[in-house]
Amino acid sequence: MNIRMDQLIRAIAAALDIVEGNLLGASTHHGKRISALCAAMGRTFGMNEEELSALTTCALLHDSALTEYIRAEKQGEQVALPLHCGYGQRNAESLLSGRDIQGFIQYHHEWADGTGPFGKKEGEFPLGAELIAIADMLDVHHHLETLNPDYLPVLRNEIQEAAGKQYTKRASGAMLAILDEDMLESLGSGRIIDSAEKAIPSWYADIDDEVIFRVARMAMRIIDYKSAFTRSHTSQIANRSWLMAKHYHYGPAECAEIYLAAALHDIGKLAVPDEILEKPGKLDKEEFRIIQNHVRDTDVILQNIEGFDHICRWAASHHEKLDGSGYHRGKKADELDFNSRLLACIDIYQAVSEERPYHPRRSHGETLPILYDMADHGLIDAGIVRDLDEVMFPFSNQDLPFPEQAGEAPAR
Ligand SMILES: [Fe+2]
Ligand SMILES: [Fe+2]
Ligand SMILES: [Fe+2]
Ligand SMILES: [Fe+2]
Repeated sequence: MNIRMDQLIRAIAAALDIVEGNLLGASTHHGKRISALCAAMGRTFGMNEEELSALTTCALLHDSALTEYIRAEKQGEQVALPLHCGYGQRNAESLLSGRDIQGFIQYHHEWADGTGPFGKKEGEFPLGAELIAIADMLDVHHHLETLNPDYLPVLRNEIQEAAGKQYTKRASGAMLAILDEDMLESLGSGRIIDSAEKAIPSWYADIDDEVIFRVARMAMRIIDYKSAFTRSHTSQIANRSWLMAKHYHYGPAECAEIYLAAALHDIGKLAVPDEILEKPGKLDKEEFRIIQNHVRDTDVILQNIEGFDHICRWAASHHEKLDGSGYHRGKKADELDFNSRLLACIDIYQAVSEERPYHPRRSHGETLPILYDMADHGLIDAGIVRDLDEVMFPFSNQDLPFPEQAGEAPAR
């Protein structure tokens, strides 16, 4: 599948921004500022476009493991810094396979004098990590989006003093070379989206099945960790989709693509407040409208990625019904292709069978009559429901294993 990778990365970053906004009350665009600063510093080292895209992507995603530890933090657990670094590194590697980004995020909290979490000294960790580290620290401590330009001389002084101790000498030099009034202005809340847009060079990539699977996993880690009640929703739908694709003898590429569409189908749910997702009682009209908007948001997030047309169509049609009564576009049977119908059926199967705030977990035997009834009413595809009955029956009410545990997925 040939896609515009920078657009996919931006889409994932946008999803992360939504989560950040949810958590902090407003999106800070922190990742975008780090990305813009790294692009400018990278240029002072003569980095080429490929190196810059790898660096800016890592910068954008350096805190991407956020959703994975929100839950732990909510439960009062302290998440260790090395773990945060490791998760972020793994996420970036999912997207940047084949690029040399070793250690870029893993070591973004190292200090030049070796007092960071991994004890690496200047020269023992890569330039990419040095640049992310200095940009990250300055932004966290000085809130660059609102910093008064009058404060610049003080800040420059501080950077000089910290060179060789906190920041590496070459990263300090690069930061001093680029941090002026214009740069500060470009990081302000009115311009940062534009600045970050320019920071990441556009690049196309032919991604193979293995990369598709890895991207899907990363997206699921972000989405499923949002709420206790969606924890395994996405991954179970992806696993079920993969199993159905196998049942229909799809080729490896289509198996991976439907897996990815399933992984992304509820990405718009990140914008739905937890209080609504986890509400035990009946939703009122307004709450229901907010929930319904999640498919529209999935559509908006995915539709601008070049090469993603079919993935977007399958993912964003999962609440459509054959008689046109679904949402968000109200498509009818003749506008719904097979994989869109398949994903819709699997989504219902999963939602009905999994534990929800308003109903307990249901077995296969309890789930299927609900789907057959919907098929009888002309809402979902009867043939697919019969196939689901056959394929999911052996699992009864157990969770489906990840494809590789089933022994057939491409190696990661
Ligand atoms: Fe960090
Ligand atoms: Fe950060
Ligand atoms: Fe949904
Ligand atoms: Fe869903």
